[in-house]
Amino acid sequence: MSATLIKGTEIREEILEEITAEVAEIKEKHGVVPGLVTILIGENPASMSYVTLKIKTAHRVGFTEVQDSQPVDISEEDLLALIDKYNNDESINGILVQLPLPKHIDEKKVLNAIDPDKDVDGFHPVNVGRLMIGGDEVKFPPCTPAGIQEMIVRAGVETSGAEVVVVGRSNIVGKPIANMMLQKGPGANSTVTIVHTRTKDLEGHCKGADILIVAAGVPGLVKPEWIKPGACVIDVGVNRVGEKISEKTGKKIAILKGDVDFDEAKEIAGYITPVPGGVGPMTITMLMKNTLKSLKLKLGIA
Ligand code: GUN
Repeated sequence: MSATLIKGTEIREEILEEITAEVAEIKEKHGVVPGLVTILIGENPASMSYVTLKIKTAHRVGFTEVQDSQPVDISEEDLLALIDKYNNDESINGILVQLPLPKHIDEKKVLNAIDPDKDVDGFHPVNVGRLMIGGDEVKFPPCTPAGIQEMIVRAGVETSGAEVVVVGRSNIVGKPIANMMLQKGPGANSTVTIVHTRTKDLEGHCKGADILIVAAGVPGLVKPEWIKPGACVIDVGVNRVGEKISEKTGKKIAILKGDVDFDEAKEIAGYITPVPGGVGPMTITMLMKNTLKSLKLKLGIA
């Protein structure tokens, strides 16, 4: 039997429509729309394409969007001053500094300079702490983990009491999604295990997972025989394994492969996310949701 595909591309459309409707309603009642600024340093092609997509999506849902591109040699001091400017700009509800940053800039210092009330990435230590506490304390869950949880919920997968195994312990995905799944509340209440490069029996842990979330960044790490029949498999890996010419545009594009052997895994799993078109589209979608929430919090209607 083949698994049900959890398609991020479809869930994205549902959520963006919900956001668009809410933005229109707020505009009518309160006369304001969410404002998002993306700060891009330098000309890293992957970062440029992510930022372009973020701005395009913000525009689509009716936000005011500002793309602030800065040269690769901007000083740390000037970048901090720029963040301060947006922290004090009433029309801006969300500030996103695209990572990675050039080596001469201290990433921690930059992320810590963003007003936690405008930190729609959810990377500021205050928001990381709020996530740990859970419940009403959470303002901005980080976008990729929030997208993963949303996909699991919208697919109708039972999380309460489920054995969740997270492969990978990054600050952006592994640690926060593990924390979110163990909280009390809908879409959570799971028993969570985090496994990583030093784990002794990776395969054994994966085999026990009702929900297996893989964010290791290693193409094909999880073998089909590691998957419990009927499990929900969320593949966060986006690994560039080569290049090909796009049939649509005639341009060179990356060949992407997940952390799971998809073709065989889909014959064993109950639910699975494809790569591309799975978790990927959810990250930007949840950034929009956080930016809308930021305005709603400010207006006292969240
Ligand atoms: N670079 C890659 N992913 C992300 C993300 O989610 N947020 C930011 N700010 N930079 C990124």
